[in-house]
Parts: sequence; C-alpha cells; structure tokens
Amino acid sequence: LTDQYIYLDYNATSPLRREARDAVWSYFETGAGNPSSAHAPGRAARKALVGARREIASLLGVERDSIVFTGNGSEANLLALLGTLGPRTDRPHVLATNIEHPSVRDLLRSEHAAGRIRLEELPVDRSGFLHTDQIVRALRPDTALVTVMTANNEIGTLQPIAEIAAVLADHPAVFHTDAVQALGKVAGFELDPRVDLASFSAHKWGGLPGLGILLRRPGRALGSPLSAGRQEFGLRGGTEDVAACVAAAAALCAALAEVDAESVRLGELREQLRAMLATRLPGVHFHTPEMHVLPGTLNFSIDGGRGAWLLARLDAEGIAVSHGSACSTLAPLPSHVIEALGEERLAASSLRVSMGRGSRSEHVDKLVTELQRVVRELR
Ligand SMILES: Cc1ncc(COP(=O)(O)O)c(C=O)c1O
Repeated sequence: LTDQYIYLDYNATSPLRREARDAVWSYFETGAGNPSSAHAPGRAARKALVGARREIASLLGVERDSIVFTGNGSEANLLALLGTLGPRTDRPHVLATNIEHPSVRDLLRSEHAAGRIRLEELPVDRSGFLHTDQIVRALRPDTALVTVMTANNEIGTLQPIAEIAAVLADHPAVFHTDAVQALGKVAGFELDPRVDLASFSAHKWGGLPGLGILLRRPGRALGSPLSAGRQEFGLRGGTEDVAACVAAAAALCAALAEVDAESVRLGELREQLRAMLATRLPGVHFHTPEMHVLPGTLNFSIDGGRGAWLLARLDAEGIAVSHGSACSTLAPLPSHVIEALGEERLAASSLRVSMGRGSRSEHVDKLVTELQRVVRELR
C-alpha cells in the first residue's frame, strides 16, 4: 500500500504488518485444521487460537476469557450493544455521543425507531469532546447502557473514558467503549478496569481486516444476537478465523512495542501539516483540536472545496486521503461528526488525513503542495 501511494488513510485501514503476514504463513504451514475438530490438526488449530487469545489478553492486561473474537469491529459493537440490551421489552434508556461510528449510531437509532430503546444522544462540544457532567445529568435509574467511543475516527478526539467510568461506577448501566481507533495508536492506552465492554478491530493496527475483538469483563452477562454455536463462549457461532487471530496477536505486539515513539513522531507530523496548511492555504478550517487527539489524524475543510472532489483530485496524484469516514466515502454524505461540531456548512467539505507508520515528512510536503495547486485551479 505505502509503496504504491502516498497513503494517508490509516484510520480506514492500515497496511498489513510483516509480523502478521509471517504469523499467517507459519500458521498455515503447520497444517492446522478446524479448531473444533478432535484430531491432531484440530488440536493444532485450537492451540494456535488459544495462544492468540492469551497473547492479546496479556498485551491488554486482561483475563484470557475476556477476549471474544468477532467478524470485525462493527460486529464487536453490535454484539456489545444488542448483547447487552437483549430481548428486553421495557424500552431501556441508552446514552451515546452524537459522534459515534455508524456501526453504533445507526444500530442504536434503528432500535430507537423500532420502539425497543429510548436513545439519548449527548452532544459533543465544538471541539468534539463530551463532558462528563453531561453523563451525570443524563443518567436515569433505568439507563441500561452507556456507549462512548474512545477515539473518533473522523476528527481523532479522545474522550474522557476513565472519568466517565468513575461516574458510572455506582450505577448499574453497562459501559461500552468503541476503542477501534485507539488501540495501537495512543501511547499509554490502557483500558479502564471499570469499562465493561470494549470493541477493537485488528486491521487498524496492522492485522488482517475481518477480525474484531469484543472485550467483556468476566462475570458480565452478555446475550448473543449472532448465530448460536459453541465457538467463542457461545457468543459467536462459526469456525474461527485462526489465521487472522494469530496475525492480530503478532501485529498488536509489534504495534505496542513502537506506539510510544510512533505517537510522538506522528503527533509532530500532524502539527507540521497543520502549520503548513495554515500558512499556505487561505480559508482552511481545522476540525481536529490540538490536544487529546489521535496522533496521526488531522481533519480540515478548505473554503469552496468539496471533500469528495478534493479527494478525487489528490487520488489522481497518487495521494490517498479520506472524506468523512471510509464507510461513507462511496456515497459521500455530509459528515455527521462535522455537523455535530456545529459546522454544518463545512460538513460536505471535510478531508481527513490519517497517518501511520509509513508516513513521512515528505508526504506531508507533497500533500500540501498538491492541495495548493488543486485549490488554485478551483479558485
Ligand atoms: C471508531 C470505529 N468503530 C468501528 C469501526 C468498524 O471496524 P471494522 O472496519 O472492523 O468493521 C471503525 C472502522 O473504521 C471505526 O473507525
């Protein structure tokens, strides 16, 4: 990916790490079978699966049985939300921010529209942060679930998860966080022990796409809206993708080994990009604040430039960025995240640059030069 393009879309997906590729290769070379089979090839697969689960759990500092492998990050969110709400008929109250990923937002909105829950979306401030006192004010005795994303995929803001967990400590509501963008990117990321459920996705840290993880605290009852079966503690039926699990473990180990240094380097690149855009492109508006954000993410709009059009022009020059989130790029809709910042007029014009381990200062230079050229043409 990074050899062919100036790839600046790491929040959409990140290139497969060498360690992950090697792990997949050696897994298949062992001739492993189906992990549910009783014979030797089955046992070999089971051993690899258990090993991957153990390694990920130890990297996250949690018990091995907390790790539930799912089909992707979106499915981990679905399992967390519907598994918590279950077939309840008392229309429980649910709190979420108004900038959640579509896999949370659309699901909760459709549950609300179907009359199964009472959803309250809490607004973030103009910089994209939720304030803990909003949770305090909104909590009710029948609040069954609170879901707040750790890191926003479009603008990169990091929410005060530990503070929210502290507020919820004396309340029976289940606390879920979508931490898909945080793990492997944020130095010192540690899941607060008071968080009940957290979602992750392996391709964001250099594993294979198509593998998510739901972390659930032991003892936390969870139903399964997914097909029944004995795999994954009865929460997700179907033969496990063991190769993806071993790849995820190897990639996570590599990502965490370099996250401290990388987050500093990427934070500097982000601010280099911000400074260059501010001086060289009149009419630029930044949607990503300077602090408490993902190191490599910068989201901005340029007066008069539609995001989808700028993206296409940069693409023609071999530069890959994103407009809104990857999920909405194929049918560009105004970004609900930019709208939530009170910037409705810019919601169709935002560009997201998300950098990762292959990103270099020269890429930032080239991006700014191309943007200047394209914007000159436009004007
Ligand atoms: C914040 C967030 N949550 C969930 C997801 C979904 O993850 P996946 O692509 O594995 O379904 C994404 C993917 O972009 C994300 O950014």
